Amino acid sequence: MPSCRPSLLSRHSVCVILSRKGVTKSIGIFYFSSTGNSLYISEMIREKMGGKIIFIPTYTGDGSEFDKIIVVSPIYSSGLPVHVYDFLPRLDKERALFVALNYGGMVGGVDYFVYAYSRQIGLNVKGVFALKMPENYTLTFTVPRFYLKRVLNSVDKRIDRVITKISRGELVLPKKRRTKEKIYYKNKAKVYEFIS
Ligand SMILES: Cc1cc2nc3c(=O)[nH]c(=O)nc-3n(C[C@H](O)[C@H](O)[C@H](O)COP(=O)(O)O)c2cc1C
Repeated sequence: MPSCRPSLLSRHSVCVILSRKGVTKSIGIFYFSSTGNSLYISEMIREKMGGKIIFIPTYTGDGSEFDKIIVVSPIYSSGLPVHVYDFLPRLDKERALFVALNYGGMVGGVDYFVYAYSRQIGLNVKGVFALKMPENYTLTFTVPRFYLKRVLNSVDKRIDRVITKISRGELVLPKKRRTKEKIYYKNKAKVYEFIS
């Protein structure tokens, strides 16, 4: 069973789990979310695996107080929210990293994009997953109720499957596929221009 204790290494408390070999492992669950889907996934991960949930925009460390790092992020505009994109290079390169992406309707190769990006910046990435969640980009269209219901009905099962793979430490790396990174980088540049 997971248990929590204050960390000796940082001001953050660290939740720990006992692995099958009896070695204590701590898990940092880092998330970004605008409407709560990623937080929901993070809470399910904590419930099943233990760990500490941390909101990426308010965190200034490198994750080295944890043995395993799980990043939970929505897919935005065929890429990552800028907070998550900027956070990844700060992470300790030795920690095992798992990324649980979630999206409303179209992965668009973002799982492979995130994997390639993580490798490029030297992260010890062990798994990248993509989970369908309720669509929250409702500026230009409305998601039909029946579709939302269907997605919601099976959401917990999908999250459970990902949690099982992360718990087992299964290596799940996306196959090379076409991404929309050119469009993503173009849009991201506009965001930086806007906020600077
Ligand atoms: C600005 C914006 C851009 C989005 N872009 C995509 C996208 O490219 N592909 C997709 O499938 N979903 C996209 N979505 C939907 C979200 O990825 C999805 O609903 C996610 O579960 C939201 O998670 P959150 O509640 O943690 O923010 C977008 C949502 C927003 C707000």
